[in-house]
Amino acid sequence: MKRRVLRLLQRLGLIAPAFRSYERLVALRPQRVTPTDGSPLPPRRLMVHVAGTADADWFLRGGRAGYDAIAAHVPLDELSDVLDFGCGCGRVTRYFRDFPGGVAGSDLSREAIAWCGENLPFGRFETNGLAPPLAFDDDSFDLVYALSVFTHLTADLQLAWRDELRRVLRPGGRLLITTHGRSYVPRLEHAERERFEAGELVVRWGEVAGSNLCSAYHPERYLRDTFADGFAFLELEPEGARGNPTQDLVLLQKT
Ligand SMILES: C[S@@+](CC[C@H](N)C(=O)[O-])C[C@H]1O[C@@H](n2cnc3c(N)ncnc32)[C@H](O)[C@@H]1O
Repeated sequence: MKRRVLRLLQRLGLIAPAFRSYERLVALRPQRVTPTDGSPLPPRRLMVHVAGTADADWFLRGGRAGYDAIAAHVPLDELSDVLDFGCGCGRVTRYFRDFPGGVAGSDLSREAIAWCGENLPFGRFETNGLAPPLAFDDDSFDLVYALSVFTHLTADLQLAWRDELRRVLRPGGRLLITTHGRSYVPRLEHAERERFEAGELVVRWGEVAGSNLCSAYHPERYLRDTFADGFAFLELEPEGARGNPTQDLVLLQKT
């Protein structure tokens, strides 16, 4: 949607319902794809909610690419329990079907979690609120990944969720997130760009945090100096997310 239209909708207090209608419209696009990974396809509206498009082929390929990006950075065969935070309708979780340990997912969307619960029987799926907590005990996971989730949260929510994910990670456990990094700078307006270059988190449409309209842009300095508090900063791969192009992949380890 054009920014001018978005601003008008914002002034009218209609931004959240208008974005939901936009997602419904995008979901009308027809598709003829049969998954071969053993799990069914979610309804189109849920695919739009996580991928921004109802293109089933991209949903499956992008989900696999997200899984491959995780596997390229974390030795999955050494892990016992994995959490997909902001799992949506399991676009990436579905590829943990043969993971021998515990698989869990959590998301804001009741509809997406209900679909995962019914269709991805190898996992435990829970809903959470916009702000913490999660339904899981302390020290439950060796890996928490959050693909394109921190990209849709305000500054306060970023840090609250970082602390909550740290709580459910075991000591030495890894947190893998994807972010809008330098490759997204051309999208920013002049003042936003200056803040990004000064190392500040930039957030747009914070009033609809948790929706895909709310967009956060993460400079590396913010990630290293602020976000990584309580963690060792292992790496940042520019555009390394693969399944959420062209987001950066950031890997932290609980200290
Ligand atoms: C762009 S989608 C990505 C979904 C999934 N990670 C993937 O890559 O397919 C963002 C997801 O984050 C979820 N989300 C946003 N804010 C959240 C929050 N505070 N807690 C849990 N999930 C959240 C949304 O409901 C949505 O499913």
